[in-house]
Amino acid sequence: MSAWRDAEGRKVAMSVSDVGRSASPGKSFWEHNEYFRQLATALASGAAGTTPNGDRAKVKERTRNYYDSAAVSTRVQSFWNLGYSSADALREIQDHIPEFGRHNETDGLSEQLYFATVKQMPLKLDELAEMSLLDVGCGLGEGLNFLSRMLPGTRMVGLDLSPNAVGSANARLARGSALSFVCGDAESIPFDDAGIDVVISVESAQFYPDNRRFLQEVARTLKPGGYFSQADLYIDDEGWERTLSARKGVDQLEWIRDKDISPEVRTALTARLMPGSHFHRKFGDVPQIARASLIRHFDLLCGQSVAEAAGERPTKIFRRRRSVRAGAGSPGSTGASYRLSLAQRT
Ligand SMILES: C[S@@+](CC[C@H](N)C(=O)[O-])C[C@H]1O[C@@H](n2cnc3c(N)ncnc32)[C@H](O)[C@@H]1O
Repeated sequence: MSAWRDAEGRKVAMSVSDVGRSASPGKSFWEHNEYFRQLATALASGAAGTTPNGDRAKVKERTRNYYDSAAVSTRVQSFWNLGYSSADALREIQDHIPEFGRHNETDGLSEQLYFATVKQMPLKLDELAEMSLLDVGCGLGEGLNFLSRMLPGTRMVGLDLSPNAVGSANARLARGSALSFVCGDAESIPFDDAGIDVVISVESAQFYPDNRRFLQEVARTLKPGGYFSQADLYIDDEGWERTLSARKGVDQLEWIRDKDISPEVRTALTARLMPGSHFHRKFGDVPQIARASLIRHFDLLCGQSVAEAAGERPTKIFRRRRSVRAGAGSPGSTGASYRLSLAQRT
């Protein structure tokens, strides 16, 4: 039994297997992680990215429970994405926030992914400062909190399925109408028609059982001419094809950009998993749930085992059982990709 801390820094007695169990009674963490792999495979088999209503509800309940547990056991100032590493992005962020990355609170890689998501829109940062922005699947709210430093003036709202994540974000980060967080479902966005200038979503839509319905909701809530910017992991070619198929049913979104950013995400993952990294130094005691997720995604995106990539014998963190076998050895050989996509509301 080890001591985790909740969002307020209180000690919570919980072991790794408890995290899995509390999300899904009777299941260990590893079985739970395996559940997500199977879920992705099951979703991939649906031609239009849809599953029957009953299944959808179950999928969401499992996802909510999983992230509710993670929110309790994740330290403050945590992101739940794989990160992005680019010297240009870093330089540009530092132009706006000179002290960014100098105090070592985070390794800055997840912030770079948020920045890349915003930056791909054909809008100047000054223009964004006049606008409203919704982050669907905002997690603990750190991404929006970071963007609010880059874009003071933008009215930002985060939406997430997990009440614990939203509770934590509201307790720590909310600042009136400048930055707020609400609990809700991406497939039924709790906002009026045509009221939002920009919708973003970072590493979240992979969990939605009905991607077409999500995109319809994005189209409904965006103002005409507004943008939808998405960063997401596709665990195999079918996952990407399923997304393309879901897009076909949503005429009001015109897709104007798709960029494979797997190289930048791999660089970030590699940096995080190397011995001596910020991740190791500062997050050595984060829940196994986060470490295991990184290792699994590294294997998927890099097509090789973490230990091989590290070029040395596995450290303690790498010796833990993995949920997927390593790929064939060449980067990207698993068919996984990480992409930035951009659409405009017609
Ligand atoms: C991998 S995390 C990413 C969180 C955040 N965007 C970040 O980068 O730190 C995925 C998030 O999507 C949320 N999510 C999953 N399904 C959802 C749904 N149907 N509606 C809203 N949020 C959902 C989860 O609760 C979780 O917080």
